[in-house]
Amino acid sequence: MSRIVAIYGSPRRRGNTATLLNEAVRGATEAGAEVERIFLRDLKIAPCLEIYKCMQDGECAIQDDFQAVRDQILGAQGLMLASPIFFYSVSAHTKTFMDRFQSLWVKKYWIDKVPFGKWEPKRKGLFLSAGATQGKKLFEGTLLTIKYFFDVLDMELWKSLLYRGLDFEGDAQKHPEHLEEAYETGRTFAEAVNTQR
Ligand SMILES: Cc1cc2nc3c(=O)[nH]c(=O)nc-3n(C[C@H](O)[C@H](O)[C@H](O)COP(=O)(O)O)c2cc1C
Repeated sequence: MSRIVAIYGSPRRRGNTATLLNEAVRGATEAGAEVERIFLRDLKIAPCLEIYKCMQDGECAIQDDFQAVRDQILGAQGLMLASPIFFYSVSAHTKTFMDRFQSLWVKKYWIDKVPFGKWEPKRKGLFLSAGATQGKKLFEGTLLTIKYFFDVLDMELWKSLLYRGLDFEGDAQKHPEHLEEAYETGRTFAEAVNTQR
């Protein structure tokens, strides 16, 4: 059975991205994956202090909930990550979490000296996001952030589900077509993760 970690990056427990990610998790679970759900808002994860103690051995100097989630992700074959758009980027919860992976970046590129861009994807990643507005460039910056975050995890961005025009809690529920798409994508994602093993 393939293992997938689902990260909820919104401060809202029942917001739009959580609703959509729940559907993707339901789809993946029904397709036979074991999915572990993690709500960043419930964890204690401090921001990166940029002291680079990780240059010694790739371990972050700050000991908090980061290490357990990192190990869960590294032990999984797939990651589903959901974050709302906050000022054209990911939420603060999500960004704080991502920044701590600089310790893995240091391990990969400085300690193990993997040449940039010369690695085989070991895992697959699905990104879900929602923003209130309709702008063409709404997800542009965020997708770059996600691409390079997944890079650190030897993960290909398998697919991203991006929804415009969702603002208030409950807005996602008014779009059964989005919920259906998230569910189906979760199913397909689990199948894709399973075949890569
Ligand atoms: C701090 C903050 C910043 C936001 N910035 C943007 C933005 O730059 N563009 C946008 O379209 N929506 C923005 N929004 C709206 C959210 O993206 C939108 O409400 C989204 O559906 C929230 O998803 P959630 O319910 O999963 O948290 C912002 C909301 C907050 C609270």
